[in-house]
Amino acid sequence: MEKRNLIKISDLSAAEIDDMIALANDIIANPDDYAEACKRKKLATLFFEPSTRTRLSFEAAMLDLGGNVLGFSEASSSSVSKGESVADTIRVVGNYADIIAMRHPKEGAPAVAAAKSIVPIINAGDGGHFHPTQTLTDLLTISREKGRLSDLTVGLCGDLQFGRTVHSLIEAMLRYDNIKFVLISPEELKVPDYIIEKIKDAGAKYKEVTKMEDVMSELDILYMTRVQKERFFNEEDYVRLKDTYILDPEKMAMAKDDMIVMHPLPRVNEISVEVDSDPRACYFEQTLNGKFIRMALILTLLGLDKNGKKTA
Ligand code: NCD
Repeated sequence: MEKRNLIKISDLSAAEIDDMIALANDIIANPDDYAEACKRKKLATLFFEPSTRTRLSFEAAMLDLGGNVLGFSEASSSSVSKGESVADTIRVVGNYADIIAMRHPKEGAPAVAAAKSIVPIINAGDGGHFHPTQTLTDLLTISREKGRLSDLTVGLCGDLQFGRTVHSLIEAMLRYDNIKFVLISPEELKVPDYIIEKIKDAGAKYKEVTKMEDVMSELDILYMTRVQKERFFNEEDYVRLKDTYILDPEKMAMAKDDMIVMHPLPRVNEISVEVDSDPRACYFEQTLNGKFIRMALILTLLGLDKNGKKTA
């Protein structure tokens, strides 16, 4: 089998995503069947930028498949701090691990790594660019909660400029029928032009608004995001924009009874804790789905079935 990487969501066909969602649902229903699928396999998690959910869910995913994990959670604890290039790090780690999940502050770094690596590379987030495994998590969550991935009005709210989860999710949802995007952000944090071009090219409907209240009643999904402090050039702008949107019970009262609220987390102030007990809030289920879809992804990229046998 040719080496497969996941750098951007379009590296997977829509049919492969459907298969992966079906596989994740089977893992959720029958976890014991997969407990030894990756026996003697190793996943390396190379995190050059902080993470809680993504790194731990990758590690939990590999452990639940019967595999092992190694890696580092900050650049300062690796030889990068001595000046080693990503390309060299990757060539070395490929000798120790069967698959690598990598997060990096620089856009494009995982693509460079993939070109040098002898084992599959998974982009676990590159700067303000893409985050395809969060998108797989989001698609699994939407399909489980709404029962479909088409015919949906999707509100994306917050930092749409730097939010890489938003960019990947839009790219993925453009492949489904009758999706309408409602892009809710301050003027300064609008979706970048290259993403708007993709929406236009796909012929999907979208609108850009600045007030949540004006659109709450239209939405089937509300995807909240935090303002990405670490990507701002100055503190003043961050402080001015950070609390632009706060989802609270008052705003939830304007929404449909079956709207779902999603958030890739970490949350800062943008969803008040009172919303957590609303049955429409599904951001914690989303984190659990993240482990199951990463199990499906690891099996798919390694080309293994539940018995650890090569599928191709
Ligand atoms: C997101 C990320 O890292 O881009 N978090 C995550 O992976 N669950 C969102 C964020 O940091 O705001």
